[in-house]
Amino acid sequence: MSELLQALSGERPRRLPVWFMRQAGRSLPEYREVRGSTTILEACLQPALAAEITLQPVRRHKVDAAIFFSDIMTPLVLAGVDVDIKAGIGPVIDEPIRTAADVERLVAHEPGDPSAIQEAARLVVAELGETPLIGFAGAPFTLAAYLVEGRGSRDHLAARAMMHADPQSWHRLLAWCADISGAFLRAQVEAGARAVQLFDSWAGSLKRADYVAHVAPHSAVALDAVAGRVPRIHFGVGTRHILPDMAACGVEAMGVDYRTPLDEAARLLPGLPLQGNIDPALLAAGWEPLEAHARDVVERGKSAPAHIVNLGHGVPPTTDPSVLTDLVALLHEL
Ligand code: CP3
Repeated sequence: MSELLQALSGERPRRLPVWFMRQAGRSLPEYREVRGSTTILEACLQPALAAEITLQPVRRHKVDAAIFFSDIMTPLVLAGVDVDIKAGIGPVIDEPIRTAADVERLVAHEPGDPSAIQEAARLVVAELGETPLIGFAGAPFTLAAYLVEGRGSRDHLAARAMMHADPQSWHRLLAWCADISGAFLRAQVEAGARAVQLFDSWAGSLKRADYVAHVAPHSAVALDAVAGRVPRIHFGVGTRHILPDMAACGVEAMGVDYRTPLDEAARLLPGLPLQGNIDPALLAAGWEPLEAHARDVVERGKSAPAHIVNLGHGVPPTTDPSVLTDLVALLHEL
């Protein structure tokens, strides 16, 4: 069994598995070259291109898993929702979902045909051999946060207001997001993904009571779409106060951001394999501090039953890719 799947099953493989969130993409010159002027959302729906971009970091860095090249917005595109990704900004929705009528219009959209992304995933799996492909989706809250705010936001005031102003519409909205997230995960698993990660990037902006009452049940529905089929990882940023609640949504492992040391996370999440959590800032800090930090992360990771090394959030686009290659080599020696 591959090191990644072994660690996700709770065993310690002989070598630490490592992969990086956002390992594909702008830090790689070969990515910029093949993407050219194709927009990111177009690239996600061109099977040969999406497959090639998914494979690039595996070839270059010798990481232990591929993460499917797509975006958390792809299922919205497949469902026919008008969304764009603007360079330097992120997802933009020109007509944000603010009222009960907006929610009703949105939830009338069906999940849509996933065959383009499934074809991409099959091409990747055919090339990867033993190396597993990880599928992913955005969690219902993070998707809803973009839909309600219309773009990324620091504190998600509009989304957090809606869940209290009109809880019924909020739950309809999140139930729809959970459906399309679950369908996206299932499509990738059917095409050969061997594990999945649910990204709830913005869940950290919620107080615990709101997460538990207004969000977690929907994340559980999305994760349930692949229950018993592949191991599931759940990740968010700034989520120390809700880590056990995120784990309770139904997962085999938890991703931890760079703010919470893994030994502390292990105390909050007894018995669960952990993934993380090298601070992405250290990638630009020079080799000595990076190596010391990576060794510290690995030491603290020994508090968990198993550890998958990753960053505590995505690879910054300005990262020197040779630093990532060297980091993988170091981690494989430890
Ligand atoms: O290597 C990988 O991780 C695989 C692909 C991947 C992308 N997006 C490709 C992408 C994954 C897993 C995502 C997830 C994603 N997308 C998340 C959750 C993870 C996180 O970072 O918290 C979120 C919040 C998004 C939404 C999104 N899409 C943002 C904020 C941006 C950045 C916009 C910018 O220009 O700074 C995107 C665009 C995007 N998605 C890029 C990539 C490689 C960069 C755009 C480009 O290459 O033109």
